[in-house]
Amino acid sequence: MRKKIVAGNWKMNLSAEEAMALANELKQKIDHQLDTGGPRQNGALPRILLFPPYVYLSGLIEVFRNYEGLSIGVQNIYQEEKGAYTGEVSPLMVRSMGGTHTLIGHSERRMHFNEDDELLAKKTALALKNGLIPVYCCGEMLPERETGKHFQVVAEQLKKGVFWMKEEEAGNIIIAYEPVWAIGTGQTASPDQAQEMHAYIRQLIADQYSNKMADRMTILYGGSCNAKNAAELFAKEDVDGGLIGGASLKADDFFRIIQSF
Ligand code: 13P
Repeated sequence: MRKKIVAGNWKMNLSAEEAMALANELKQKIDHQLDTGGPRQNGALPRILLFPPYVYLSGLIEVFRNYEGLSIGVQNIYQEEKGAYTGEVSPLMVRSMGGTHTLIGHSERRMHFNEDDELLAKKTALALKNGLIPVYCCGEMLPERETGKHFQVVAEQLKKGVFWMKEEEAGNIIIAYEPVWAIGTGQTASPDQAQEMHAYIRQLIADQYSNKMADRMTILYGGSCNAKNAAELFAKEDVDGGLIGGASLKADDFFRIIQSF
């Protein structure tokens, strides 16, 4: 069985006070669900990942210290373990704090920080070496979809960023399909569009590695996923959960997404 995951990417939002309030509100909701069974059975919550800004990492790790089903990660890592790189944060540091995951190749990093697939491949390998699970983001821009190049673009991103790795390494990665035209726009990929791309990605994994690995790998959808559309998206066979931006900043909305399987 593939892992079902709901991940929250807080991006560069929230003050310290707001971040801790959101974490504690979320914790209360999880506690309530685990205590009462909520609308679902005990233990039936999907795995939850939170990607706060670096500066809130230790605070969130503290809040969720004993929560096996919830892990804390970061939105980016530097591509070296240590050294004279003023202002950067390495995977070794994140791991040593208790962080377990890192986003790699989010479209905002590709766009605003010129991160290309070669750099992202290096980051992915270094994350794995340091015991962090990469959530590798891929997705096409609007003109690429409009001209029918979306499959090609995603295949290329995965080929350069992930598929050069051996099966035992690549098998630890989580993939997030985030069509750039859907990020922060309120325009979501339809469930059929998401399913079509996820099935395509799974087939790429099967061709590159094996059916077994393709069956096992978690592929998340991201891009204006919210409390209203999550259930329809998550109902699709190859959509194993979501990477949520805006809607992860409100505990109520994010928790409703968590309950959408
Ligand atoms: P939105 O959910 O705000 O569209 O952001 C998606 C995203 O970029 C998650 O990484």
